[in-house]
Amino acid sequence: MESALYGVYGAAGFGREIMPVLRTGLYMKGADAGRIVFIDDGDVGREINTHRVVKLGEFCDMAASSRHVAIAISDSRIREKLWHTCRVRSIQPLSIRAENAVVMDGVVIGPGAILAPFTTLTSNIRIGQGFHANIYSYVAHDCVVGDFVTLAPKVCCNGNVLIEDHAYIGTGAIIKQGSPGNPLVIGRGAVVGMGAVVTRSVPPGVTVVGNPARPLHKT
Ligand SMILES: CC(C)(COP(=O)(O)OP(=O)(O)OC[C@H]1O[C@@H](n2cnc3c(N)ncnc32)[C@H](O)[C@@H]1OP(=O)(O)O)[C@@H](O)C(=O)NCCC(=O)NCCS
Repeated sequence: MESALYGVYGAAGFGREIMPVLRTGLYMKGADAGRIVFIDDGDVGREINTHRVVKLGEFCDMAASSRHVAIAISDSRIREKLWHTCRVRSIQPLSIRAENAVVMDGVVIGPGAILAPFTTLTSNIRIGQGFHANIYSYVAHDCVVGDFVTLAPKVCCNGNVLIEDHAYIGTGAIIKQGSPGNPLVIGRGAVVGMGAVVTRSVPPGVTVVGNPARPLHKT
C-alpha cells in the first residue's frame, strides 16, 4: 500500500520558508522525502530545494494512502478558495508547527495552521482555520482570532484582542491590548500596515498605517 503524500501549496517565498519546517517534522515521523512536494501552477516539472513541483491534478493522481496539504499562500482569499478546492478533492488540511514555536495553556487552533519558527501563542487563545503566523510573531493571552488570518513576521498582538476573519497584520505591527469583555477589534478583512502601532479598533475592510495607526488615504 502507498504511503501518505504531503504537499505545500505555493512555492513562492512563504512556501519555501515553511517547507523545511514541515520536512523536519515529517522526517521525525519516518516520512520519505519523495512523498513531500510543492503544489504550484508555475515551475511545474522541476525541483525546488530538492522537492518536486506538481500541479494539484498531478498531486491527486499520485498513488497515496492519504493526501495532506498546507496552504502557504498569504493572500487569505486565495487561501480560502484553495482550502475548499482541497476539501472537495478529499485532501486533508495539514498544520505545520515549528519545533521551537511556543504554545502555552488553553490554546485551541483550527486545522491548517502554520506556525513558523520563533512564534509564540501564550495562554487561553482561540484561533480559527487556515491561520498563518510568520517568524517571530506572537499572540498573547485571551485573544480570539478568526479564520484565514495572516500575521506577517514579528507581529506583536497583545492580550484581549479580537482579530476577525481574513484580517492581515503586516510586519512588525504592534497591537495594543484590549480588556476582558472589551477587546480591541481588528475587523474582518482589515489590513494593518507594516510597522503600525494600533491603539484602537480597526473597522472591517480598512487599511491602517503609522504610529498611532490611522486609515491609509492614498494620494
Ligand atoms: C499598508 C500596505 C498594505 C499598503 O499597501 P499599498 O496599498 O500597496 O500602498 P502603497 O505602497 O501604494 O502606498 C500608499 C502610500 O502609503 C504609504 N505606506 C505604505 N505602507 C505604509 C506603512 N506600512 N506605513 C506607513 N506608510 C505606508 C506609502 O509610502 C504611500 O505613501 P504616498 O502616497 O505618500 O507615496 C503595505 O504597504 C504594507 O504595509 N503591507 C505589509 C507588508 C508586509 O508586512 N509584508 C510581509 C511579507 S512576509
